[in-house]
Amino acid sequence: MELKIEGEYEMSKKRIVLAYSGGLDTSVAIGWIGEQTGAEVIAVAVDVGQGGEDLEVIRQRALDCGAVEAYVADAKEEFASEYCMPALQANALYQDKYPLVSAISRPLIVKHLVRAARQFGADTMAHGCTGKGNDQVRFEVSFTSMAPDLSCISPVRDLALTRDVAIEYGQEHQLPIETTKHNPFSIDQNVWGRAVETGFLEDLWNAPTKDVYTYTDDPTYPPLPDELVISFEKGIPVAIDGNLMNPLQIIQELNTRAGAQGIGRIDIVEDRLVGIKSREIYEAPGAIALIEAHRELENVTIEREQARFKRQVDRRWAELVYDAQWFSPLKKSLDAFIKDTQTYVTGDIRLQLHGGRATVTGRRSESSLYDFNLATYETGDTFDQSYAKGFIEIYGLPAKLAAARDVKFGHGVDFGIGNL
Ligand code: ARG
Repeated sequence: MELKIEGEYEMSKKRIVLAYSGGLDTSVAIGWIGEQTGAEVIAVAVDVGQGGEDLEVIRQRALDCGAVEAYVADAKEEFASEYCMPALQANALYQDKYPLVSAISRPLIVKHLVRAARQFGADTMAHGCTGKGNDQVRFEVSFTSMAPDLSCISPVRDLALTRDVAIEYGQEHQLPIETTKHNPFSIDQNVWGRAVETGFLEDLWNAPTKDVYTYTDDPTYPPLPDELVISFEKGIPVAIDGNLMNPLQIIQELNTRAGAQGIGRIDIVEDRLVGIKSREIYEAPGAIALIEAHRELENVTIEREQARFKRQVDRRWAELVYDAQWFSPLKKSLDAFIKDTQTYVTGDIRLQLHGGRATVTGRRSESSLYDFNLATYETGDTFDQSYAKGFIEIYGLPAKLAAARDVKFGHGVDFGIGNL
């Protein structure tokens, strides 16, 4: 992260780096922050695979809106390898459903903001989140961890940049940005998935309409089943059907193929860190297919006790990342545990994608712990069943002692079958 400041900068004025999306709110924020604080604004846009506009177009728009500098970063591969892959290795699903799409992108965006702040001599960072969501916490707690010397402002929350103000400001200053188009939803998307909220979805009884979805087709009328083999090395997918690919390419390919089958649509009432329950719709076809495959390969290759413990660690990891703790010491320690568990998670998983589901239909691994001869009920059985009798006798001893004591104290042994 050590970056030298290049060239001479006019340092008489304060400089603020703004997490810039290219949309109305953050475009207006450039001028708004300037007016409210007197500072110069440096816009930072980070491509985490959200699709849409070209980075150069976004860069130019930031400058046209009054930014003194605009920094754009193609972080797609970095995001896939360093943020999506750890989430996959943790089988990360918050509340057993949400694959942390937005939660894992914020720490990376912050990393690029800090880099730009150092490069352009800024001492303050800004984001465009509201005061009701998780993302403000993720931005600001990550800032604290990465750059405790920098301060932070939140124009939407703290400088009263409401939507009405933004539209009016944009029109008044003739900013090169659409101010009339009204999207009923608040959307955040990247290569790991897509999050949609607000609008009529705020009524929990309203079913999502077709226009909510863009990453997935309707699974009700799916095309023919699609079968593929995903190869993993130490918990990282490295090939599909034998074709070597990097993590970004693998996620993208699965977004297309699993998306065509309507896999990864999620409708959930979620517990936000700020205490609010909120309705969210997600689409994460690639993430859900990959987690399904990865989890099954773990079932084959991870020792039982390690696997049982890992399920608890996975859950905790997802909660920490959801709760803005990406850079926290506990998350770092859990990372080390998870990495260690992946040593033997190498092998192939065959998946069938069809009608909204990714189903594992085959597994093979050189490092498998599955022993056919131990498991088989056919000839070739090497499991000596005579050992089971003694094992159960000793294993059941504590239960036996407790039951005998109950009898002694007259507490009976009525387990709902009546005292016989
Ligand atoms: N509720 C999700 C989270 O906290 C998604 C938030 C995405 N933001 C949005 N504007 N839709 O991770």
